[in-house]
Amino acid sequence: PNLLLLGAPGAGKGTQSRRLVDEFGVEHVTTGDALRANKQMDISHLDVEYETPGEYMDAGELVPDEVVNEIVKSALADADGYVLDGYPRNESQTEYLDSITDLDAVLYLDVDEEELVGRLTGRRVCEDCGATFHVDFDQPEEAGVCDECGGDLYQREDDTEETARERIQVYEDNTAPVVEYFREAGVLVEIDGEQTPDEVWTDVRDAVAERD
Ligand code: AP5
Ligand code: ZN
Repeated sequence: PNLLLLGAPGAGKGTQSRRLVDEFGVEHVTTGDALRANKQMDISHLDVEYETPGEYMDAGELVPDEVVNEIVKSALADADGYVLDGYPRNESQTEYLDSITDLDAVLYLDVDEEELVGRLTGRRVCEDCGATFHVDFDQPEEAGVCDECGGDLYQREDDTEETARERIQVYEDNTAPVVEYFREAGVLVEIDGEQTPDEVWTDVRDAVAERD
């Protein structure tokens, strides 16, 4: 299936996407990870404010549409079924996505803002496999070490409280309208993202299985 997972920063998109990959064999297409791998790419030929994606990301701002649309286009061209995570984030990306693919399901993980900040500032990520943990809600067996592959865990540069709040504000201004757009189109499946990861997964899996 072609799946879209919407939700604010820290709502659990990455966490649930990994499970969707295991269960349904879809490709995880995440603009955040793709951009983190290309933080230093020179984009100064575009008529934009900063010279690299990393400068936007560390400020909590959106990377220019031209850069992100290109990443998604080539990732979707190679994918036989996907879960899209972190895209689209504004109206123009939504229109672009509509022009290049068809979606089977649009899921929205609903989480309150104060909960988001706590999740983001406590998140730890494996530098080798990308698995996500949390210092309170999802501790690895051994502090600082990935359960899945033994890799070292690190804190993302944009997971400070200040940048987390900025990202949530950017989400409210630019991406919340995208959620409304799919809601009005009658295709949005709303999921309570404040349950435990396992409970959220049950709802996500059932919603996808129903449409697959
Ligand atoms: P991106 O990497 O997409 O970050 P984000 O949208 O801010 O989302 P996150 O990865 O922070 O959160 P998540 O929902 O995946 O949560 P997770 O599962 O890890 O984007 C980063 C930056 O890149 C942007 O700011 C922008 O600059 C740029 N960018 C990316 N896409 C772009 C685009 N399309 N256009 C322009 N710019 C773009 O969970 C979070 C934590 O909570 C974890 O610690 C986890 O263990 C824990 N957790 C998860 N689920 C639960 C639960 N149910 N209960 C308790 N804790 C939980
Ligand atoms: Zn790992």
